[in-house]
Amino acid sequence: MSLKGKHLIDPGDFSLTELNSIFQLAEKIIENREEFSEICKGKILATLFYEPSTRTRLSFEAAMLRMGGKVLGFSDANVSSTAKGESIADTIRVISSYSDIAVIRHPKEGAPKLASKYSAIPVINGGDGGHQHPTQTLTDLLTIKKLKGSISGNRVAFCGDLKFGRTVHSLIKTLSRYPENKFVLISPNELRLPEHIKHILKSDANVEVVETEDLELVIDSIDILYMTRIQKERFFNEADYVRLKDSYILDKNKLKAAKKDMLIMHPLPRVNEIDYDVDDDDRAVYFRQAEYGVYARMALMALLLGVYENA
Ligand code: CP
Repeated sequence: MSLKGKHLIDPGDFSLTELNSIFQLAEKIIENREEFSEICKGKILATLFYEPSTRTRLSFEAAMLRMGGKVLGFSDANVSSTAKGESIADTIRVISSYSDIAVIRHPKEGAPKLASKYSAIPVINGGDGGHQHPTQTLTDLLTIKKLKGSISGNRVAFCGDLKFGRTVHSLIKTLSRYPENKFVLISPNELRLPEHIKHILKSDANVEVVETEDLELVIDSIDILYMTRIQKERFFNEADYVRLKDSYILDKNKLKAAKKDMLIMHPLPRVNEIDYDVDDDDRAVYFRQAEYGVYARMALMALLLGVYENA
């Protein structure tokens, strides 16, 4: 089994064996970072970001630099020739001759997939509109594996903007492929998980799904609470955003009823949905989660570039 030369557009592109090989390598890197500090020597990562990012872009860059490779790219489409009307197909054709692997974030759903069809190098989806965010899913699953011990058998609650939150869409579909996970969906009525994803969970994966608008009603039964930001940039009008933006604010008081070993995760950035007082709680793991993102992306790129093969 080799991931060399593959694209990662949707977590469903990879089998569970392939996903597990990424986590296996990420855990090896965590144990001995020095051993991997030169494996990408001579390799170049292109970061093509048509939408704002802190973690995804910089953790990819850190990952390549920590493996001895180099990085080029842009963090604002307005400083690229996109501003002159160049298509993503032409951009990736050119970038394919400048670099060995590319990560693309784009506001349009499907843009990284389109780019992959014209690319001579592996393309990684760094988040496309409200659709998918597969490397956040790798980050999230590695965090769950490290801190919960297993990606299976957890009751996972997703809270906030389940309609537009691409991190939720990628993660919940992937978790449903692992055995014995159960889901609790907590959102305002207008921001419920899209029906097509619920259909996958209920019909294809046959997993238990509970929906509620009330976080406090269910918090005592949860193993992992995945908080999300209300996605301001995907709303059609400001008034709806203002009305919904503070639907859920996790604070110390609400946490009193939660399990002592519940994980509080968040893909970040946080706006108001987790009180700063919660950061000191041992269950709050969102900053460790962001750190694990570097190791997950190191492992992913090493395998796609074929500079490392798992035994
Ligand atoms: N989690 C995440 O995608 O963060 P950024 O938008 O900062 O990349």
